Amino acid sequence: MKSKILSVLKGSEDFVSGEELSKTLGVSRTAVWKNINSLRNNGYVINSVTNKGYKLVECPDILDENIISDGLDTGLAGKKIIVLKTVDSTNEEIKRCAANGEESGLIIAADEQTAGKGRLGRVWQSQAGEGIYFSLLIRPDLPPSDISSITLAAGYAVCIAIREYTNCDAKIKWPNDIIINNKKVCGILTEMAAQSDRLDFVATGIGINANNAEFPEEIKSKATSLFLETGSKINRNELFRHVIKTLDKVLCSFLVSLSLDDVYNFKSLCATLGKNVSVQRNNKTIEGVAVDINLNGELIIKDNYGNNTAINSGEVTVQGIY
Ligand code: BTN
Repeated sequence: MKSKILSVLKGSEDFVSGEELSKTLGVSRTAVWKNINSLRNNGYVINSVTNKGYKLVECPDILDENIISDGLDTGLAGKKIIVLKTVDSTNEEIKRCAANGEESGLIIAADEQTAGKGRLGRVWQSQAGEGIYFSLLIRPDLPPSDISSITLAAGYAVCIAIREYTNCDAKIKWPNDIIINNKKVCGILTEMAAQSDRLDFVATGIGINANNAEFPEEIKSKATSLFLETGSKINRNELFRHVIKTLDKVLCSFLVSLSLDDVYNFKSLCATLGKNVSVQRNNKTIEGVAVDINLNGELIIKDNYGNNTAINSGEVTVQGIY
């Protein structure tokens, strides 16, 4: 009900009477009044004037599952959305939910993570009110070897959503960092559980730097946020809804076709291709030019002798990118 009231108020530049709200939404005027007060308690500034009604003046920047799911009709990602105020890590929480039998499509987001995790044991800065931190649970009937393609598809979807929502020239740093102007704006950490040759579940954790105004000294030169890139505060609820929609579309199509072909605009958005790269492999450094991404999503590196090596994971250093 709260999200319906909000969407009516948002759609009107003028006051909307209590009577009109109650008629449009088919509820009593007391119910309208109660929900308006509850919205106010959630930080919305709503003016009320006798004989005129209600007018929305200001929306708070808090993640709100009602707003996020408003108008969201997804087949998989976000079939159920839980937004927590604080959690250790949304990946840890979603793994606990998976262990308790939660179904595919669950998204858990948090305004703050007290133990946000990055790849390779790093910490993911997750202060309240700044980023979008969430994890998606899926249970695809696939072998564990498909995990990297799933993660590539997820990264591609987030990249597209950021481009569409902000107009920023977001690109993918293979395999799944999203960068803007050569600095990282989003990271993805995928974890999984598998029984012999089948995935039990995949937990894809996504962290987007949305409204961060600054970063700690040690990552300042490598990290950016959508606020720093656009100069405007991001409406995290709206961006998050768009990310979920795009993720759903891309993942549903990938899980049907099982081909990254559909995702193969991927290459045009991949900032790694054509660059000099180096990657550590079995105590060896592979250096060369990133020339292609194959159908399995592997990065093809051509060395100085013309030999191609396919890399399926790992921390790739890319010349010119943080
Ligand atoms: C990386 O680039 O190192 C991956 C960062 C992943 C961060 C996200 S935030 C939501 C989810 N929960 C976590 O603890 N980590 C991921």
